[in-house]
Order: sequence, then C-alpha cells, then structure tokens
Amino acid sequence: MPLLFLFPHLTNPQKTYTIYSMENFRKAYVRTYGCKQNFADSEKITGLLLTLGYIAVKTPEAADLIIFNTCAVRENAEQRVFGNVGALKKLKEDKPELTIILCGCMTQQEHAAELFKAKFPFLDAILGTNIIASLPEIIKSAESKTQKGAKVHIAEAGGSLDEDVKPLREGEFSANVPIMNGCDNFCTYCVVPLVRGREVSRTAENIVAEVKSLIAENRKDILLLGQNVNSYGKGTASGFTELLRELDNIDGEFIINYMTSHPKDCKKELIDFIAESRNISRHLHLPVQSGSNRILKLMNRGYTREQYIELAEYAKRKIPEISLTTDILVGFPGETYEDFKDTLDLIREVSFDSAYTFIYSKREGTAAADFDAPASAEEKSAWFQELLDVQGKISERSYERYTGKTLRVLCLGEGRSDPKLLTGKSKQGIIVDFSAGAGSAELRGKFVDIKVNKALPWALKGEII
Ligand code: 5AD
Ligand code: SF4
Repeated sequence: MPLLFLFPHLTNPQKTYTIYSMENFRKAYVRTYGCKQNFADSEKITGLLLTLGYIAVKTPEAADLIIFNTCAVRENAEQRVFGNVGALKKLKEDKPELTIILCGCMTQQEHAAELFKAKFPFLDAILGTNIIASLPEIIKSAESKTQKGAKVHIAEAGGSLDEDVKPLREGEFSANVPIMNGCDNFCTYCVVPLVRGREVSRTAENIVAEVKSLIAENRKDILLLGQNVNSYGKGTASGFTELLRELDNIDGEFIINYMTSHPKDCKKELIDFIAESRNISRHLHLPVQSGSNRILKLMNRGYTREQYIELAEYAKRKIPEISLTTDILVGFPGETYEDFKDTLDLIREVSFDSAYTFIYSKREGTAAADFDAPASAEEKSAWFQELLDVQGKISERSYERYTGKTLRVLCLGEGRSDPKLLTGKSKQGIIVDFSAGAGSAELRGKFVDIKVNKALPWALKGEII
C-alpha cells in the first residue's frame, strides 16, 4: 500500500517526517462522548497521536493507551462516562502498563475531575478541554508510571484553535471543520461556556484553505462546527455569511453544512444568501428549546416565540426545499404544563422534520442550577413522552412534501438494508435510498439527480434520472 494511504495527513513536502515500521507503533483507543465538536476534537487527538507514533485501534482491549474524551452537557452523558471508566479497572489490573487518560468537557469541571481521581485511582491523567499542546508531555509522563494515581492537569478553558495539528478524519467523503471554539451566550441551563470558555474564531483564510484541500481529497460533505456559528468572526470584518460566500465560491460541487445556529443571531441576510448559493446545505438546524416566552426569557435565549416563528417561516418561504430541525428542552426549572403546551403549539406550527428532545438536567455552575421549582421527575417524563408522540407524528409524514421532486444527492455507496440500492445524502441532509442500474459502483462520491418516489419517516426513496 502506498505510504500516503496509511498516512494521509503527512503530505507537506516542506516537512521531514519520521516513518515508523508497524512494530514501532503503540496502539491507542480514543472514545468520544457528546457532540460533533467533541468528535472533531478527538479527530485532532488521533491526528496528534499518529505523529507521536501511535495507531488507532477499535477496542480498549487492544490498546496501550486509552483516552476518553468526555461530555458534560447532560447528567446521563456523565453517568455513561462513569460507568465506562469503572469498567476499565479490570483491564488495568490485567495489564498494569496500560495508560488511561480522561479529557474533555466533563473533566474540565474541577468537581468532576476530583471525583474521578478519588473514585478511580487506576487512572493515569485527567485533563480538560484545552489539551492538544500539553498532551505529548502528559502521555510521556503518564507512561513512565513514576507516580501512583491520576494527576489532574486542567488548563483554563478556551483560547485554543490548534491550527498546527492535522486531524485524522473518519468517514470517506465527509469532514468536520471546526471554525470556532467556545461560547459567549450563557443560556442559563448550559454548561458549555463554563467548560469551553469564551468564543474564539479561526481566520477565514485558514478555513477556506482547509476546505479547499478537503474538496481536493474528494471530501464533498463538509460540516462547519461551532457552538454558535452565526457569531463566527465576532469583532472582525468577516462574519459567517461572508465565510459561507467564500466557501461557496470554491470550484466544484460539494455541500457545506454548518451547526449550530442560534435563532437570535441567525439573520435574514444569511437566509437570503443561502437561497441563492450553489453549495450551501439546505438543512437548517435551529434550536428553539421552548415555545414559551416566559421560559425563553428564563433561559436567556434572546428571542421570543414570535421572532422564532417569523424566522422559520422566512427560511421556508425563501428556500422552499429547506429541511428544518430543532432542539427542545423539557422540564426547565419553573416550567408549567401551560408553558409546555406553548412548545407543543410551536412545533405544530413550524412543523420541523425532526427534533432532538432532552429532559432538562441541572448543571453545576450554571445560572439555572439555582432556579426554584423544578417540575417533578414524573411530570417531566410524562411531558417528554407527549412531546415525542406529537413530534413523531409530524416527522412521520413531513418528508412527503419531497415526493415527485428531484433532489441532488451525494452518493455514499451501497444501500443500508437492500444491497440492490445505493444510498446517499441530499442537500437537505436527508438520507436517500435509490436504484441506479448498471455502473452504479462508479457513482460513490459523486452527485446524482434523484427523482423521489416514496417518503419514509426518516428517509426518502427514489430513482436516478
Ligand atoms: N439539560 C438538558 N439538555 C441540555 N441541553 C443543553 N444543556 C442541557 C441541560 N442542562 C441540550 C440543548 C442543546 C443541546 C445540545 O443539548 O437542547 O441545544
Ligand atoms: Fe459538546 Fe457541550 Fe458535550 Fe462539550 S458539553 S461535548 S461542547 S455537547
């Protein structure tokens, strides 16, 4: 196999690389919890590990080094991490030379880091979110096993963009591209600003250069990532719309997706630009969180339900083929059934294709952690079930509006369940299964026009034209 297949990120002709033989490599297992931003961070960690002489393996049992990149957004994510870390105890007993490191949003919080340290003395190091620069040194010292028990190294959150580290990307045709880090919004339920720090943006020049090189590698499904992409470039001349304009102008056909948008910062000018763009995704993920003005205010979201609905209607009018999705939070402190009914009314009115729904969980250090009168656990779960039922019925039929239409689809390969079909992703971010006839193997990684003839609850079916 040519070396470049093995080391796709070692392509700078100006640099000298050390190429290890397979026996020199140590094996690393990186497990990621949480959002896409965290997955993108892990791709950087794996890229860095490769330059340190590690290859990635798929199970913790096969590894010499295990890194868990954790998430703090909800309690259930944290519990999962606790359970999975506990399960490593036996592995470490059987293989004492194994090195185990925790990092990410959960361990950025001092109370969580200390709890891990006390509960799991077999850990070697505990780091936070800002780790790339210090990781080589920490791995070296952890591997020397000169001390017993985990050492906690938590740097201040935020500020790092790690431009010099090339991620090792998963996925053949897709790529995550972080455009910023951190968040300045302070929604009262959210721990992210506390663990990722204040917002910092990459330069448009670096982002455009990276996207160009990804497209040259045949990666045509690009996802720009930021906690609030609409405030990209704050304090500089180039805002998010300008960035999208530059990316849209790159030669070729591709899809530029982006998440997450914030309704208070998502301007009509951005929607107007997307409507006329060639390569910007027709999927808008616009988290509403609640349909009650009282709760939106308590959440410090910075918009009203009326403003949200107007924006969503504007997007649908300007981009008729758009797919709208959202996030909804149930059981925020002080929420009543009346407030919750406002949320149900809103989702019926806007008619989202799908919604990510969450039961509120209290996060230490956030403003809402001190708010009174949380609904009972039974109430919250009854409302949550009602929300799932209402949204489920909307989602079940919402793709029917695409039947009879022709969609541009990036072919990703063989069908999901039926090998006679191919599968792909439309410019709305919708999975499309289609029949293509002879020569279909050559379509992987290419765009095709698909006439939709059937809408399923979470996908479309059609045929190539
Ligand atoms: N509890 C439950 N869900 C939360 N989210 C953010 N913070 C919390 C919390 N404390 C949800 C929001 C956000 C999504 C990524 O996670 O809906 O949009
Ligand atoms: Fe992502 Fe937020 Fe979880 Fe951190 S806390 S991994 S930013 S969802």
